[in-house]
Amino acid sequence: MNFELESVVFYPIISSIIVLIVLILLARYIWGMFFDTNYRPVEWDNARKKGLISKELIRLERDYPDKVRFFNWWFQVERLKRDGVPGDFAELGVYKGESAKIIHRMDPSRKFHLYDTFEGFSEEDLKDETGEAATYTTRNFADTSLELARRNIGGNENIVFHPGYFLGSATPTPSGEGALALANLDADLYKPTKAGLEYFYPKLSPGGVIIVHDYNHKWPGIKRAVDEFISSVPETLIMVPDMEGSVMIIRSAENFTGRLAIQQQDTT
Ligand SMILES: C[S@@+](CC[C@H](N)C(=O)[O-])C[C@H]1O[C@@H](n2cnc3c(N)ncnc32)[C@H](O)[C@@H]1O
Repeated sequence: MNFELESVVFYPIISSIIVLIVLILLARYIWGMFFDTNYRPVEWDNARKKGLISKELIRLERDYPDKVRFFNWWFQVERLKRDGVPGDFAELGVYKGESAKIIHRMDPSRKFHLYDTFEGFSEEDLKDETGEAATYTTRNFADTSLELARRNIGGNENIVFHPGYFLGSATPTPSGEGALALANLDADLYKPTKAGLEYFYPKLSPGGVIIVHDYNHKWPGIKRAVDEFISSVPETLIMVPDMEGSVMIIRSAENFTGRLAIQQQDTT
C-alpha cells in the first residue's frame, strides 16, 4: 500500500522537481550564453545605454569568450580617448583578424597598422622555442591570408596591412615618439615578441600602451621576451587577469624623451 502511494504520488513529484531544476539551470545557461549577463562592467553598460557603443561592437562582445581581455582593450581605448593620447594603433599577430576587428571597432578613427606574415610562423622563430610553442610547426596559423583577414576585419580606410616577416620584410609604421597610442602583441613566440616590444615601445606617446598576450608559464618565450624588455625600461609591468594572462606596459610621461628635454631646458 505504502509502496503504491510512493510510486503514484511521491516519485512523480520528485521527478517533476528535478526536471524543473534542470530546465531552470539550462535556461540560465542559454540566457548567459546569448546575453552574457555574468560579466559586464558598469561603465560598459552605461555607455551602451547612452548609445555610445556600436551594434557591431556589442555583438562582438557577446561572441568573445575572454571577457576580461575584451574589456581590458575597451578600457584602455577609452582611456586613450579620454586623455587625448595621440597616435595610431598597431597589432603584431593578426591571423584571421579577430582581435584586430574588435580593437578597430573600439576606435575606428585611429589608423591601425596590422603586422603578420599571413602565412603562419617562420622556421627561424620556432627553432629555440620551449613550452606550448615547442609543439608549433610552420603549419600552425598558416590557414589564413591577407585577403581573408581583410574580409574578416572589414572596417574603414584606417586599416593598414604590413604583410611579411616582422620586422624583416614588413613595411615600417610611422616613426618617431608619439606615433603610437596602442600596440597589441599576440605573436606567441619569443623572437617576434621581443622585436615588437623593441620596435613599438620607443614610438609610444606618453600614456600609450603595449598589451602582450600569453604571459604565463605555458609560453616561456613570451615571458622571457617581456621580462628581458621590462628590465631595460623604467616602467612597471601591469598584470591583466584575463584567461591567458596578458600584461601591459604604459609609457609614463617621465620616460618620454621629448618631455624630458623640455624639463631639462626648464631647469637650466
Ligand atoms: C596567436 S596568432 C594571432 C591571433 C590573433 N591576434 C587573433 O585574435 O586571432 C599569432 C600570429 O602571429 C603571427 N606571427 C608570429 N611570428 C611572426 C613574425 N615573425 N612575423 C609576422 N607574423 C608573425 C603568426 O603568423 C600568427 O598569425
